[in-house]
Amino acid sequence: MMGSLQGKVVLVTGGGRRVGAAICRELAARSAAVVVHYRHSEAEALALCRELKNGVLAVRGDLSQPAQREWVFREAMEWLGRVDVLVNNAALFARDDEADPAQLAAVNVAAPLDLAARIAAQPGGGCVIHLLDSWAARPEAAAFGEYAATKRELAGSIARLAQQWVPHTRVNGVAPGPVLVPERTEAAGTVPLQQRPTPEHVAHAVAFLAENTAVTGQIVYVDGGQHLLAAAHDGRQRP
Ligand SMILES: NC(=O)c1ccc[n+]([C@@H]2O[C@H](COP(=O)([O-])OP(=O)(O)OC[C@H]3O[C@@H](n4cnc5c(N)ncnc54)[C@H](OP(=O)(O)O)[C@@H]3O)[C@@H](O)[C@H]2O)c1
Repeated sequence: MMGSLQGKVVLVTGGGRRVGAAICRELAARSAAVVVHYRHSEAEALALCRELKNGVLAVRGDLSQPAQREWVFREAMEWLGRVDVLVNNAALFARDDEADPAQLAAVNVAAPLDLAARIAAQPGGGCVIHLLDSWAARPEAAAFGEYAATKRELAGSIARLAQQWVPHTRVNGVAPGPVLVPERTEAAGTVPLQQRPTPEHVAHAVAFLAENTAVTGQIVYVDGGQHLLAAAHDGRQRP
């Protein structure tokens, strides 16, 4: 049976702007109570809360810090008594020559896994959706190798945790392609469908996974078909 988001509490990390804000809007439009987590984007997060009006809470925290992760989750939890859906959207995106590997691992892997474990540990479990990256395995990602590796590691945890946490907690992922350019122009690559995905396309996939209580252990690519190019590339490499 399809699960309505009416009355469900959803925590969206990095929800104040860009893709995260589109996810908050989509889930709020489906009647979820939304916790908008942010770190630096306070003005955007508070403006989004005013826009969404009822059933919205903004919570600040640096997710690279374990104590602040705990604080963010506790604040979200204490608002309406539980967190039904966690959307791990916050991420650090940086070239290898600019990135701090420890910070990348903390924000892109440790934080989402820590928050996911808190969902699974609450009575009745819940639903976890990780934002991944479709081009994490593609040649275009070469200059972003450390970032790509963190997204692959997170993707690699999905099937394992989905199996471990049945029947109470579902774990899925959404892997966007180049949604917001020019920030990612260098990594955009070719889009087979000749249409770049939008934040709204990504948000729609998140909503589908949040609502469809029969789906776990899945990754939905919202990338205009780019993962198919990765498969073709891999195929050419085989002897
Ligand atoms: N944009 C794309 O084209 C694209 C493509 C493929 C995959 N993705 C994935 O989709 C998701 C959303 O993409 P996006 O481009 O909208 O993301 P983004 O702007 O790069 O980052 C989203 C938010 O993450 C938060 N964040 C970063 N470090 C943090 C920390 N230490 N503690 C707490 N929050 C932190 C920031 O919040 P504050 O601003 O409040 O500090 C930031 O606004 C990400 O997971 C990304 O990897 C995006």
